[in-house]
Amino acid sequence: MHPQQRLENHYLQQRRVQFDFSNTPEHWIYDNPFATHLINAVHLILPVGELWMCRSFNEALPYIKDEKLRADVKGFVHQEAHHASAHKVAQEYLRHYDYDIDGFLISLDNIFKQINTAPLGLNLSSSLEYRWLTIRVGIAAAVEHFTTMLGTWCLDDQPWQNKTADEMMSDLMTWHLAEEVEHRSVAFDLYMHLCGENNKAFAYLQRQTIMLAVAPLFTFAIYQCFKKLAQQDQHADPYKNYGLIRALRHTAIEHARSKQVPSFFAMISSLRHWVKPNYHPYHEGDTDKALQVLNRSPAVKALTKLRTC
Ligand SMILES: [Fe+2]
Ligand SMILES: [Fe+2]
Repeated sequence: MHPQQRLENHYLQQRRVQFDFSNTPEHWIYDNPFATHLINAVHLILPVGELWMCRSFNEALPYIKDEKLRADVKGFVHQEAHHASAHKVAQEYLRHYDYDIDGFLISLDNIFKQINTAPLGLNLSSSLEYRWLTIRVGIAAAVEHFTTMLGTWCLDDQPWQNKTADEMMSDLMTWHLAEEVEHRSVAFDLYMHLCGENNKAFAYLQRQTIMLAVAPLFTFAIYQCFKKLAQQDQHADPYKNYGLIRALRHTAIEHARSKQVPSFFAMISSLRHWVKPNYHPYHEGDTDKALQVLNRSPAVKALTKLRTC
């Protein structure tokens, strides 16, 4: 584990926040169907992806020899599991507006089932099983690099504030992204721990190879989810047949115009940090800032109030 992370002495907690989207309009980022569908893409992809990470991390628990890391991994799993639950509530909100998402969700679920403990249904030897576990945790660390970047953008730019968006959905996204910054180091620390102190060069090469696959796949997955939603909205006519490159170009324009979507180029350029041999997610975000934002979240405040009653 990174020494500064150890010094941070911060223990993760699950915040079982609740959201009610019964008054949330279809275009919750007001007058901006493009930004709404792009951000809503995460409601489709994240629950299945986050539960996949939880299963992999639970499988890793018996191999963890560091008590603080074990506590971090358990805290991470609890947080990600609740993120998945919250986005499932947001899936209900999409169904309420007649978005047909179920066939798409089943397809995503089937894809993730292929990369579980037995990849493509193969029975692995115990050494290959362990190697496959390090790869899955490495995939999680690569995805967490991007969610940290998204979280840092959200904390810095506050893209859906000042009455430009529905407060309830904005609160869900901000709470989730702040917790992504809070737990940003856990997947990476677990990956390095599983690879072992004596295998740092191999761990480095393996995580670079993993990112070569994860960066384009993550981008493509978000694009597919965006397209699935945009194609069902007549207000999104101008965007619904966009190919990937055109959608990325429009994201850049939208980022410059409204700041309500992240900058794809900033995400890609953040990979210059990932390729450094001494990369550590600790340096990619600000825990204090994340905790301040979490303490201001209406859903978190409601939870605290409930606890003190
Ligand atoms: Fe999450
Ligand atoms: Fe996360």
